[in-house]
Amino acid sequence: MRDWRQREPIVIVSGRGAVLRDARGREYLDANSSIWTNLHGHRHPALNAAITRQLGKIAHSSALGLANEPASLLAAKLAALAGYAKTRPLKWVFFSDDGSTAMEAALKMAWQFSLRTGRGPRPKFLSLQSAYHGDTVGAMSLGHIDLFHRTHAGLLFKTDRAPAPYCYRCPFNRARPERADARLYRQCQWECTEVLEQKFAAQKKKGHPYAAFVFEPLMQGAAGMVPQPEGWLRRAARIARAHGALLVADEVLTGFGRTGPTFACQKESVGPDLMALAKGMTGGYMPMAATLATQSIFNVFLGRYEEFKTFFHGHSYTANQLGAAASLASLRLLESAASIRARVRLQKALGEALQNLWSLPNVGDIRQVGLMAGVELVKNWKTRAPFALRERAGLRVCEAMARRGVLTRPVGNVIVLMPPYCTTPGQVRQMAASLSQSVEEVFGAKRAA
Ligand SMILES: Cc1ncc(COP(=O)(O)O)c(C=O)c1O
Repeated sequence: MRDWRQREPIVIVSGRGAVLRDARGREYLDANSSIWTNLHGHRHPALNAAITRQLGKIAHSSALGLANEPASLLAAKLAALAGYAKTRPLKWVFFSDDGSTAMEAALKMAWQFSLRTGRGPRPKFLSLQSAYHGDTVGAMSLGHIDLFHRTHAGLLFKTDRAPAPYCYRCPFNRARPERADARLYRQCQWECTEVLEQKFAAQKKKGHPYAAFVFEPLMQGAAGMVPQPEGWLRRAARIARAHGALLVADEVLTGFGRTGPTFACQKESVGPDLMALAKGMTGGYMPMAATLATQSIFNVFLGRYEEFKTFFHGHSYTANQLGAAASLASLRLLESAASIRARVRLQKALGEALQNLWSLPNVGDIRQVGLMAGVELVKNWKTRAPFALRERAGLRVCEAMARRGVLTRPVGNVIVLMPPYCTTPGQVRQMAASLSQSVEEVFGAKRAA
């Protein structure tokens, strides 16, 4: 905070498409989609019109005991999109405000489900190493990032940590499973999922199997843009299922086309029992979130008044009408042929633009899943030696990028590029070029010939 107060803040006053403008009239490319929320660009005419239309009717009415039209339509739409797993469709939608509250609701549903279906008096949760699921107490308890969670440790309840695949720094020193050519490392034998299986088995042996397995599918964002190799999610889900655990997918970041399909779980044909959605749900316009649940989860909360089975959780702005109107408009755009084409083009352009960075000695790894990418900065690409956090490597590079008119935020030493879907290939090349020039400026190291 002291550092931040010493600098002149960038005060954003307007935006259009992928461009943000500050109070001094300077323009920037929004290279992290305003902290991973924006889908179709700022001030999109279709979203603006939908919200204005809704404003002409009503902005908000309580959803406690009442329904409203846009939120009901949105629930039906989300359920239709999430019905892809035919044996376990996510039919039921519970609205809340942001990623943390969506995860909090998922956690409480999983907890109640486990208690009410006789899975022991204190259901236990397993989540991934370096997981981040939000900043409320329950969501933090599921997280395993020391920097964020250590200071609150006394407040949190205990959850277990499962190994997550971080292939660039594979603890088993294996090559990536998809890279059969790697000569330096032995081929991956899925050692990490073996450890996962052992973890489930050991817990079962204690007579207290895990109630739920919580994961971010395909890419762990706040962990440092850590992608899961193809097949990992499918295997992990199969193991969790075999041990009777519920699957709780945190699609707060990965949902709504970020990884390609609408939901990342679809890519590996994984049908979770609970799914949390937020960030891009309103196209990045408003705080609104949803927790999707299967029929069997819903059923344990179904009862007459005096049975008190209801899900005791609710927020003032639940099912906000403006947010729902924005969300419906955003989903229409997402499904349009023009948006699908633009995303395919942008994903390719992002991948190509990032290739130039490999020749920089301080670039260790470049990881991309769909329309999100992370570039891991290291002291030396040969040894993969990491920068200590106090060296502020990621922050310094992002500051240099801002001076070049590109805004993003690092996760530790990883620079995130996550452009809004309306970004042009030219703009994405500009984002990557500013990153490349900033790395050279900050570390003084020239690219290899
Ligand atoms: C995977 C994931 N889950 C949950 C959250 C929390 O979302 P919010 O910041 O909207 O509370 C985040 C935020 O970055 C996230 O990346």
